[in-house]
Amino acid sequence: MNIAVFGAGYVGLVTAVCLSDLGFRVQVVEKDRSKLSRLQAGISTIYEPGLEEMLVRNLGEGRLIFTDDAPLAILEAEVLFVCVGTPSRPDGSADMSQIEAVTKEIVENSLDSGYKLIVVKSTVPVGTGRWIEKMSALYAKGRRVNLEIASNPEFLREGAAVKEFMHPDRIVVGAASERGRALMEDVYRSFDCPKLFTDSHTAEIIKYAANSFLATKISYINMVSDLCEETGADVTLVAEGIGFDRRIGADFLKAGPGFGGSCFPKDLRAFAHVGRSYGLNFGLLEQVMQINRERSQRMIRKLREQLWVLGGKRIAVLGLTFKPGTDDVRETPAASVIEALLAEGASVLATDPLGIAGFREMYGSLAERISFTVSPGEALLGAHAAVIVTDWDAYRELDWADVKDRMETPVLLDGRNMLDRAEMRRLGFAFMAVGR
Ligand code: UDX
Repeated sequence: MNIAVFGAGYVGLVTAVCLSDLGFRVQVVEKDRSKLSRLQAGISTIYEPGLEEMLVRNLGEGRLIFTDDAPLAILEAEVLFVCVGTPSRPDGSADMSQIEAVTKEIVENSLDSGYKLIVVKSTVPVGTGRWIEKMSALYAKGRRVNLEIASNPEFLREGAAVKEFMHPDRIVVGAASERGRALMEDVYRSFDCPKLFTDSHTAEIIKYAANSFLATKISYINMVSDLCEETGADVTLVAEGIGFDRRIGADFLKAGPGFGGSCFPKDLRAFAHVGRSYGLNFGLLEQVMQINRERSQRMIRKLREQLWVLGGKRIAVLGLTFKPGTDDVRETPAASVIEALLAEGASVLATDPLGIAGFREMYGSLAERISFTVSPGEALLGAHAAVIVTDWDAYRELDWADVKDRMETPVLLDGRNMLDRAEMRRLGFAFMAVGR
């Protein structure tokens, strides 16, 4: 089967590489020239364990092709995955212009051709499939096109993308016709997991509803963690205690600096916007976002409790990426923590094993006001306090006794509950965790 993938972003690149590894011939259409030339040279444009080896192998074996020749890719493909971005607009809604542009290109290059299945993998608002159908008819201007639209949301997590693509919890396909479903059955034939076939509206809602639910769990436990702090309870045990209930489940109940990344914040905003646009009360999600926004202030408050005055103090921020195992800094909680520290007049030295270049690029003016080092030891030298924002394993393995001696004042805020409290206190740290 010939497949085309539009957009070599996170989802597109992982989808293309994995599908080619399963034996399909995959052409990836990417318009960004510098991205394209790197991919053609066998360099992965994202950091993702196992991805580059797979990319190089399939590129070498000729099954994986990176191109800007959209007409040829469209002509040859039977299944066309749309994986372009749907960034947030100022009102929170998803910007659908890239999806529309791909739709136009596909229609114009499949006039009078055989049946093709357009599969939307980008996270999109409910009703997108219908819009694509409508726009296809308009762009076809009465000429014959034989296109069907399906929805196939992707649930992979950054840092484990290849593994999660290849071994998903479930596959969701929203397709109207038997033919479309059969084609998607073929694509995912080798996957041994539940496969749910629905209409396209349902599939579109499943994706937003899943991400919003997971984000809700995080804000919920963060809310509870504040109460734990006030009352001397331990949020990690509360999470364990409720997580044993199979109806609740133990995952996504880690209190911390709040969720970030390219999906949760954007998808919550978009889902809330969809709800509002139908006149529904999606205030629950507004609260989830509000709790998340307040996390950085909570951390500042804790530092103030130990350091009295933050102005003029040197704070080491450990971790810039939105979670470990990735170089992605999109909507990272580190940015709001750093912003809040600067607002207090503190100076910030930030460290991260993979995220510094991305942080500099994405948060230009904020980044100009702080210093960076890849070495945590250097960041901690002479610091009045350290704040762990991302739970990189390397921070667990630091020689904390030595760190304490090298700091100006041994104040440590473990924003991810990753260190052993008793041990840190024994070493002489004024140690704070989250919700305990
Ligand atoms: C998420 C979804 O999990 C995935 O299914 C979807 O396809 C894309 O969005 P991802 O953004 O890669 O994946 O990261 P994830 O591991 O879900 O973490 C998101 C954020 O929540 C991170 O900032 C993480 O640190 C935070 N988090 C996660 C918590 O604060 N507590 C938790 O218990 C879990």
